[in-house]
Amino acid sequence: MIDLNVNFAGIKSPNPFWLASAPPTNTGYQVMKAFRSGWGGAVWKTLGQPIVNVSSRYGALHYRDKRMMGFNNIELITDRPLEANLAEMAEVKKNFPHHALIASLMFEGKEEWHDGIRRCEDVGVDGFELNYGCPHGMCERGMGSAVGQNPAVAEKITSWVKEAATKPVIVKLTPNITDITAAGLAAQRGGADAVSLINTINSVTGIDLKTMEPNPRVGGFSSHGGYCGPAVKPIALNMVSELYNHPDFKLPISGIGGIETWADCVEFFLMGASTVQVCTAVMHYGFRIVTDLIDGFSNYLEEKGMRRPTDLTGIAAKKLRRWENLDLNYKVIAHIDEKKCIACQLCYIACEDGAHQSIRLNPGSRIPEIIEDHCVGCNLCSHVCPVEDCITMVSIDRGLPKLTWPDHPKNPLRKTA
Ligand SMILES: Cc1cc2nc3c(=O)[nH]c(=O)nc-3n(C[C@H](O)[C@H](O)[C@H](O)COP(=O)(O)O)c2cc1C
Ligand code: SF4
Ligand code: SF4
Repeated sequence: MIDLNVNFAGIKSPNPFWLASAPPTNTGYQVMKAFRSGWGGAVWKTLGQPIVNVSSRYGALHYRDKRMMGFNNIELITDRPLEANLAEMAEVKKNFPHHALIASLMFEGKEEWHDGIRRCEDVGVDGFELNYGCPHGMCERGMGSAVGQNPAVAEKITSWVKEAATKPVIVKLTPNITDITAAGLAAQRGGADAVSLINTINSVTGIDLKTMEPNPRVGGFSSHGGYCGPAVKPIALNMVSELYNHPDFKLPISGIGGIETWADCVEFFLMGASTVQVCTAVMHYGFRIVTDLIDGFSNYLEEKGMRRPTDLTGIAAKKLRRWENLDLNYKVIAHIDEKKCIACQLCYIACEDGAHQSIRLNPGSRIPEIIEDHCVGCNLCSHVCPVEDCITMVSIDRGLPKLTWPDHPKNPLRKTA
């Protein structure tokens, strides 16, 4: 029997699927609708100093038939009065005492942070998320990613928060930094109970070719914004795994970035997360996508003979190695299933012009042939092929022992025995 309940750094929720701090958590109306739809938790749209938003404020990258493959915003934190937000948070907690309600906060001075924490605890929030990630507007005022990019400052502010908070504190990290582990370790030193990542990535999604203005356009001008949606998932997965695998990093991780389906959730868990958060997919398709997350995720656990979401945590992350520790004697070659091939020859063109000239076209046949002796096993043709499982990469046992770069005869720095 699958049990989706989670206890994330002391924050309990009926499942690990949370709404990320963003427009879907602007109001009590939305959060209660989301909880009724099946979401286990919600990180409220960031509370802080009064701000004014621009119009327009979203950009998007539409790629071929996929709308909003990437999404970008130049929106700031909540533009609603703190009192209105707090009153609605109290109502949510009253109606949904067993769901996770997390207050996302962004303030400047220590007193402001302490005041914000007290006021949120008074309305019954289950935890805090510190927004050190907003990559536009707020960072110009010394907050958001200006904090997340400076580990010493992030550590200091986290320690201020921990002086006042009696509820668990999650630090939300910015990906706009060279080494995510420096940021995560700073949060840990500051006393954080968990981290979440990623916030949005610095970006310009495109230019209007008629007006020659970048998007989103605000009176003839624009500003760089924060990138998110399916396109950022690989970056987020890598950063989650980097933190999970760091030997000194011990905190639980809430994974964010491009999650749309149950399989995306599984991937974040396998890379080290123990809850996940979603924004763009809900802005695109609505709260109802949580049904797929719950059903698909539970079915996967069942198929794998596992009982709890955290049984998955980190399994794939532990299979990441430094490049130099990979086996240079491991060898795969491409294999074409002639019954599935539609003779489009895309694989031939890709290998001929973009790889290793290891596919030939034979007179009288439109089906390409792999030149096995030449194929280096780069995978390009299998990625290009439009037919599922038509090109597979087959491993060849050459009877050679494992050989890594430090021991390779071509390595000039090889330590000889
Ligand atoms: C329009 C918009 C507004 C956002 N506002 C906030 C915010 O107020 N606080 C915050 O921590 N993150 C904010 N985010 C970032 C999201 O919480 C999330 O980290 C990011 O979008 C990546 O997740 P996704 O790919 O599922 O969208 C915002 C994102 C979007 C698209
Ligand atoms: S795996 Fe690479 S080298 Fe081999 S046939 Fe395909 S594209 Fe060519
Ligand atoms: S890309 Fe795939 S379908 Fe097209 S010719 Fe090559 S093997 Fe056949």
